Amino acid sequence: KNIVVLISGRGSNFKAVYERSVQENWPEKYGVRISGVISNRPEAGGLTFAKENNIPFKVIDHKEYPTREAFEEELIKACEDFDADLIVLAGFMRVLTSLFVNAFEGRILNIHPALLPMFPGLHTHERALEAGIRIHGVTVHFVSAVLDGGAIVGQAAVPVLAGDTPDELAARVLKQEHILYPRAVRLVAEGRVRLENGRTIMDRGA
Ligand code: GRF
Repeated sequence: KNIVVLISGRGSNFKAVYERSVQENWPEKYGVRISGVISNRPEAGGLTFAKENNIPFKVIDHKEYPTREAFEEELIKACEDFDADLIVLAGFMRVLTSLFVNAFEGRILNIHPALLPMFPGLHTHERALEAGIRIHGVTVHFVSAVLDGGAIVGQAAVPVLAGDTPDELAARVLKQEHILYPRAVRLVAEGRVRLENGRTIMDRGA
């Protein structure tokens, strides 16, 4: 199975998934590999890592397309060129419409830095601190046409500590992201976790 990772920025989650796939030898052990990376920003830090590790990548700059649909058409084509079985959004900062979502139904994962359904959208760490909750975290979910609203695959929680700044809280969550996402991606790529009728189905032990 081929995984295509979509990024917009520093790409630390992309790196975490890739490094785990190498450490655990996913291609041999599970028949799963990252076949390509796509960034909508030419300057995304994650592209440097792709170059350094000879991972095929492509830049599709959304600013060069007149409409969201035109951009997504190009994105779909690029994913097909990389022979994508599973699309992994890793800090990909473009909202995807049903055009893209329907093209890869049940085969798109996202990581969101909050315990969904709390805090969909942006600035989750600021909002968590503002709300005064004492437990925060990260969610991996299937992507549906509802922003941050698809079926949940996995979550990890962290404490909110007294005096936390948004950056400190973000760093604590990010550590968990790098553990959770590689595992979730592998289980979905293997087919041990899947989307059926809008719900996440997990094999025993997954
Ligand atoms: C992560 O916090 C992720 O949860 C969110 O955007 C951030 C991306 O970071 N969707 P990185 O590019 O993977 O380092």
